[in-house]
Amino acid sequence: QADLRSQMLEINKQAAKYYYYQLKSERGQIAYEYLRNRELSDETIIKFGLGYSNKFSDDLYKYLKGLGYSDGILKESGLITMDEKKGSYDKFWNRVMYPIMDVNNRVIGFGGRVMGDGMPKYLNSPETKLFDKSRNLYGLNLARLSRKPNMLICEGYMDVIALHQAGFDNAVASLGTAFTGLQANLLKRYTHEVLVTYDSDEAGIKAALRAIPILKEAGLTAKVINMRPYKDPDEFIKALGREEFQKRIDEAENSFYYEISIMERDYDLNDPEQKTKFFNEIAKKMLVFTEEIERNNYIEAVAKRYKIEYDNLRKLVNRYGAQL
Ligand code: GTP
Ligand code: MN
Ligand code: MN
Ligand code: MN
Ligand code: MN
Repeated sequence: QADLRSQMLEINKQAAKYYYYQLKSERGQIAYEYLRNRELSDETIIKFGLGYSNKFSDDLYKYLKGLGYSDGILKESGLITMDEKKGSYDKFWNRVMYPIMDVNNRVIGFGGRVMGDGMPKYLNSPETKLFDKSRNLYGLNLARLSRKPNMLICEGYMDVIALHQAGFDNAVASLGTAFTGLQANLLKRYTHEVLVTYDSDEAGIKAALRAIPILKEAGLTAKVINMRPYKDPDEFIKALGREEFQKRIDEAENSFYYEISIMERDYDLNDPEQKTKFFNEIAKKMLVFTEEIERNNYIEAVAKRYKIEYDNLRKLVNRYGAQL
């Protein structure tokens, strides 16, 4: 079993090298140009070990067979698809390749992006004995070495890469899946504060609202970075640069405020009835604060923010739960 795992790690490492050399070759030019167009430097390409899976459908298969690996283990690796009729062929074809590393810099899987508008935009390695998406974070092998006081959690490969290139070497991504408690616990080993840096679209907002309680549950402080009017950190940095992004970090919003500001969108605060409902919702949410000082501080801050009486909000909160 241990031997199977180490063989699979070795296969992934060989594949990463192979994809990297493809990128550097004549036929990888198209992928290299794609990455350069996305403003990645050679240094960044090397740092993240980016590569290219070329247009021939069984190149990697032949290469790995040449190294002596059996069909059985190649199938297990998730890099090769075996079909009774069609034979053996590579899973990744004509894509820019992003090796996914665990915290110990071992390649456990890959993401591959089409260079145009094809579907799916990203293809990921299937879950294997090595690769469990829910317990890994892309970029954590690098971010864990950062000396910054917090970590940035974002959505995608390109976000992590663009952030690191701009000097934000504390960025990680949750690989397109919902953020999990296992990932929160993993982050907890390296930091106390997490800045949620998800996309500014509705999908990103929903993902942030799901991630916040998971982070808090793990005992982490959660804040949210506002990326508007840009879609994600990659686009933000391209448009405005690192100084402006640093400002957004400095202005990161307390996650409770973020949650209520998103809630606020559902209510018309000029309508007394809706306004009342909104404050009732806030009051219910206040029950998550189980320490008296903390709850009072939030009541005070929210009352000030919405220009209502502290005592009124306090009474409303007490109506929903035991007074502290
Ligand atoms: P770029 O267009 O390259 O900048 O990608 P992005 O990271 O901005 O893409 P998006 O915000 O749509 O998705 C965020 C992350 O979700 C990606 O980095 C992927 O990890 C994942 N993802 C996006 N699209 C797909 C898909 O079609 N299939 C799978 N499996 N994952 C996806
Ligand atoms: Mn998408
Ligand atoms: Mn997105
Ligand atoms: Mn995005
Ligand atoms: Mn993007």
